[in-house]
Amino acid sequence: MDFEKSFTEIDFKEHLFSNKVFQIASQVAEKTNVKLFLIGGFVRDIVLDRERDDADFLVIGNGPEFASALAKELDVKSISIFRNFGTAHFKYENMDLEFVGARKESYKRNSRKPIVEDGSFEDDISRRDFTINTLAVSVNKEDFGRLIDTYNGIEDIKNKIIRTPVDPLITFDDDPLRIMRAIRFASQLNFNLDDKIKKAAEELRDRLGIISKERITDEFLKILSSAKPSVGLRLLQETGVMQTILPEVANLSGVEQRKDFHHKDVFIHTCMVVDNISENTDKIWLRFAALMHDIAKPQTKRFIEGIGWTFHGHEEIGARMMDEIFERMRLPLTNLEYVKKMIRLHLRPIALVDEEVTDSAIRRLIVAAGEDLEDLITLCRADITSKNIQKVSKYLANYEKVMAKVREVEEKDRLRAFQSPVRGEDIMKICNIPPSKKVGEIKKAIEDAILDGKIGNNYEEAYDYLLKIKDEFVKSQNVTN
Ligand code: CTP
Repeated sequence: MDFEKSFTEIDFKEHLFSNKVFQIASQVAEKTNVKLFLIGGFVRDIVLDRERDDADFLVIGNGPEFASALAKELDVKSISIFRNFGTAHFKYENMDLEFVGARKESYKRNSRKPIVEDGSFEDDISRRDFTINTLAVSVNKEDFGRLIDTYNGIEDIKNKIIRTPVDPLITFDDDPLRIMRAIRFASQLNFNLDDKIKKAAEELRDRLGIISKERITDEFLKILSSAKPSVGLRLLQETGVMQTILPEVANLSGVEQRKDFHHKDVFIHTCMVVDNISENTDKIWLRFAALMHDIAKPQTKRFIEGIGWTFHGHEEIGARMMDEIFERMRLPLTNLEYVKKMIRLHLRPIALVDEEVTDSAIRRLIVAAGEDLEDLITLCRADITSKNIQKVSKYLANYEKVMAKVREVEEKDRLRAFQSPVRGEDIMKICNIPPSKKVGEIKKAIEDAILDGKIGNNYEEAYDYLLKIKDEFVKSQNVTN
């Protein structure tokens, strides 16, 4: 995106005219004598040209009262009001609309729950998380569509930087979840974190302890869902936040050198694997499996004289570690077995490259991976992080070989399991013969016709074919039991 050009061209008024709800909101604000602004992600995402179907309104006055008046005007019946927080929400057509009264917030040290006091526009935006989220657009009649950029949010978007409107120690202390949000926005938008934010995150990371695990996990999964998750993973690591929320991943860092042998830094390798897989899939649990595939390498690391470093059994131990990690991070247990399976099997396909590999070894992989075999191969391919292009194409070709063997074995098994669509019972009835060897012969003749492509593999064609061959079979030989 050509940032410079697009910024001067953004016409917020035009955006506000695109949906009649904003004009009606403006009229209701005029009538009820409140000042009204669009704020936060809605404005930020207009600048970033990202689609969204929710909008946050800042009301200088009583948020729930204004929301109720607007809902009435729009003929919306269902509205949720949270009086303690001074917020309200309703859906209009396909948009989620949030309303908040401007407030001055102070927080108790051991809780995220603010003590809410009414405040001015300025009070409100100064207590918001990041400058890029303080951008506001007036919905008031006198300056409908005017941008208010008190903290240089536009400049920060242009420079791709996440900064806080006030000292980040205050912003994060007010609400430590913002430490995760800062890293999440950086990862989603591919922005940098201001150095002061990094320092404050490092200093206050233990305050994440007052945040529910679910909310932290929610932000973590958003990082993992971004186009290049390593941006967020590296920031989590650099600020020490990873050590606080997922020490197992933090502990993957580091390389040891003994004699001529050193191993790859597993954290860096893991970041590359996660980025690789994210280019090929949006499946969050496959991405999660990629993040965790080498999780047990630190525990299983051994140095063997003359051979070097080994990580024997890390795939099985890693899979078993998922029980605790899923529970601690409150991850949905419906995905646990899938993630364990991916970790447990991530080395299996490459072990099956040899020419001499038996069909039954291939069959064991097919059965173990089941319907997730394609995902497993996607993980294996992402696991190739060599910088040597020749090696990469050789390894990729190896997986092609394994998949060719899988298809070959599947085809053999499909043929072996194949049966005539017209069953023995039907054959006996139609040909008027008792159970006998002949029934099998007729069945085989039908199966051969299908395999030879003379007829299709369906009941109707097999039935017609049976009528055609029946006389020849029944007449030509005596039926014996
Ligand atoms: N906000 C904040 N601190 C938080 C959460 C939210 O200051 N811990 C403010 C920000 O100004 C933010 C707005 O509330 O823009 C709305 O929050 P939310 O809907 O969570 O985020 P968005 O910025 O809309 O971004 P997205 O929906 O993309 O997550």
